[in-house]
Amino acid sequence: MTMSTANPIDNPARSPATPASTAPFTAPFREFSFDLPQPLPGGELRCTACSTRVRIPEPTPDGAARAQLRARARELLASRSAVLMAHYYVDADVQDLAIETQGFVGDSLELARYGQEHPARNLVVCGVRFMGETAKILSPDKEVWMPDPHADCSLDMGCPPETFSRFCDAHPNRTVVVYANTSAAVKARADWVVTSSCAVHVVRHLADQGHKILWAPDCHLGSYVQRQTGADMLVWGGSCIVHREFDAASVRSLLQRREGARLLAHPESPADVLEQADMVGSTTAILRAPATLDAALYVVATDGGLLHRLRQAYPGKEFVGAPTLGVHGGRCPWMSANGLASLVRVLESRASAIEVDPGLAERARIPIERMLAFTRPAP
Ligand code: 13P
Ligand code: SF4
Repeated sequence: MTMSTANPIDNPARSPATPASTAPFTAPFREFSFDLPQPLPGGELRCTACSTRVRIPEPTPDGAARAQLRARARELLASRSAVLMAHYYVDADVQDLAIETQGFVGDSLELARYGQEHPARNLVVCGVRFMGETAKILSPDKEVWMPDPHADCSLDMGCPPETFSRFCDAHPNRTVVVYANTSAAVKARADWVVTSSCAVHVVRHLADQGHKILWAPDCHLGSYVQRQTGADMLVWGGSCIVHREFDAASVRSLLQRREGARLLAHPESPADVLEQADMVGSTTAILRAPATLDAALYVVATDGGLLHRLRQAYPGKEFVGAPTLGVHGGRCPWMSANGLASLVRVLESRASAIEVDPGLAERARIPIERMLAFTRPAP
């Protein structure tokens, strides 16, 4: 079965025709909490909840230094036979460089497919670790480098493989669907991997066949998928530290002050934000939405890195980040570890190529390939 990802997913939360679901929806764990990362000496941040260290983003160099870094990165990409793949959330210079060098900027599903299909010998993935791991699983013969191979994700961190495996063992009658934002070990335990661009379609397909779902790790995306599909879902309690901070009351008051503004939201955002949205979808779906939604101003509930591409794509329109109440201010600290200087460093050193245990990779590849086949555009 195939599906098209060409159009943004409309938000039926605004449609009176959407039936209310009566299916069970249970979140077995409380949301994990991550405290404000504290600066450490030596240019790192520490997340006090999990002790993970994150490099402080390097300040963007100006003028000549920036041009030099770009030129050096271009040169190294060519000499290392590498293609640059960037997620929409990373530094604007890195996104622009990916396009200028005939690489790619996209959402997590598109990046997975692109890396697998591209003929380059080596891949440079600018994003977070699960994206590099997925690229390596799908292309075991390519070297995969990342500017920061330790760039984490709170969803991945909040879903430890051993605990997750016990959770699956306790519910053997459920089909295990995990979000791409997980480790290779968690994927290896899953029947399906999904991203935000196909989660609703996959779960609806499974529910239509009578499957009960065990979902992990994002509780907000899980709850959104459940509302859209009416599926019977048992949901893990993880969350994204960036999206969970978007604040419904501040969003409402901004939309009231700026009459005619439209809200575009990523489904990792809380339900009270999503219910105000004119469109809910993946980063690529958000990028496409202004082509069909007629407005002068868009409020965007996802990482601020996407604003760069939105402003490039629609120069006559205005885009602002949705207000947040939290400490991360709408920017993912791990995505921010990808800058021009760290890109040049990894290309020069070719250090710390991404490795995935071959046994795990073999098992994790099955549910990832299942997702790629399900979403492959019809010829
Ligand atoms: P997309 O799949 O929409 O690119 O989202 C990935 C992500 O990490 C969202 O926070
Ligand atoms: Fe993970 Fe959230 Fe960062 Fe996306 S924005 S990589 S979900 S922490």
